[in-house]
Amino acid sequence: SDRYAVMGNPVAHSKSPQIHQLFAEQTGQALSYEKILVPLGEFQQALEAFRDSGGKGLNITVPFKQDAREVAHSVSERARAGGAVNTLLFESNGRIFGDNTDGTGLVRDLRNNHAVHLAGKRILILGAGGAVRGVLPALLGELPESITIANRTETKAIELAALFNAKLPVKGCGYDALGERFDIVINGTSAGLTGELPPLPHTLLREGASCYDMVYGDIPTVFQQWALEHDAALALDGLGMLVEQAAESFFIWRGISPDTAPVIEVLRQAMA
Ligand code: ATR
Repeated sequence: SDRYAVMGNPVAHSKSPQIHQLFAEQTGQALSYEKILVPLGEFQQALEAFRDSGGKGLNITVPFKQDAREVAHSVSERARAGGAVNTLLFESNGRIFGDNTDGTGLVRDLRNNHAVHLAGKRILILGAGGAVRGVLPALLGELPESITIANRTETKAIELAALFNAKLPVKGCGYDALGERFDIVINGTSAGLTGELPPLPHTLLREGASCYDMVYGDIPTVFQQWALEHDAALALDGLGMLVEQAAESFFIWRGISPDTAPVIEVLRQAMA
């Protein structure tokens, strides 16, 4: 059967093998999917070893998404604009195609699983690191009214906003400059991993606003808790995004779109 894997460091806690196993069973595809811990500085060697042993494609996670972009012979527009590649396809002619499915995963989770539509909405994104940059092309593609990027280091937010000379307003600022209200707030910072929360004003959400944390855990994240305390209509975590980005990678490799809902359900149950 065809071999796939996720490469990262760390990678032990990745749920991707379980997700792709469930996709494969559901769609009747014969494939294996493993996780490969790659030592820092050895991405290129690890990739070549995997490909030479018959590997057909890879998912790439922290900290190799930039390396993956450099190793690809061609990349999708969404990966180029986002500066990161999370999916590699080894083509039969020896070329390597790179794509980034994270942003599409986020948009699909919001739209398909939670009926949150971004068109015409005022969106706020917290953070200006690699995770945020990777999803911005997909968010822009939904044609929101505007996108504001707020970051602890204000200059990074301003620089990131300037990268996307979009047809709609994209602006960067620090947290202290957040004076308006938003329809959708997406947390793309890594602050929650240490139980921290960016300093957010109490007057951030419009009535009926949706909040989305790109990370997830066994218990609601600090940002989800903040959202509930501030009367958000929805306070979502990133588990659905994880499964949706995996489904889009599966489609790139196999040409089949798996049904994500039952897989999200299995993972959610396992966390409870
Ligand atoms: P990632 O790949 O997860 O995006 P990153 O590129 O290191 O990782 O970016 C981390 C993001 O989380 C940054 O926007 C960072 O803010 P700075 O650019 O000011 O460093 C943000 N972040 C991390 N810890 C934070 C905290 N305690 N409070 C606010 N923002 C934080």
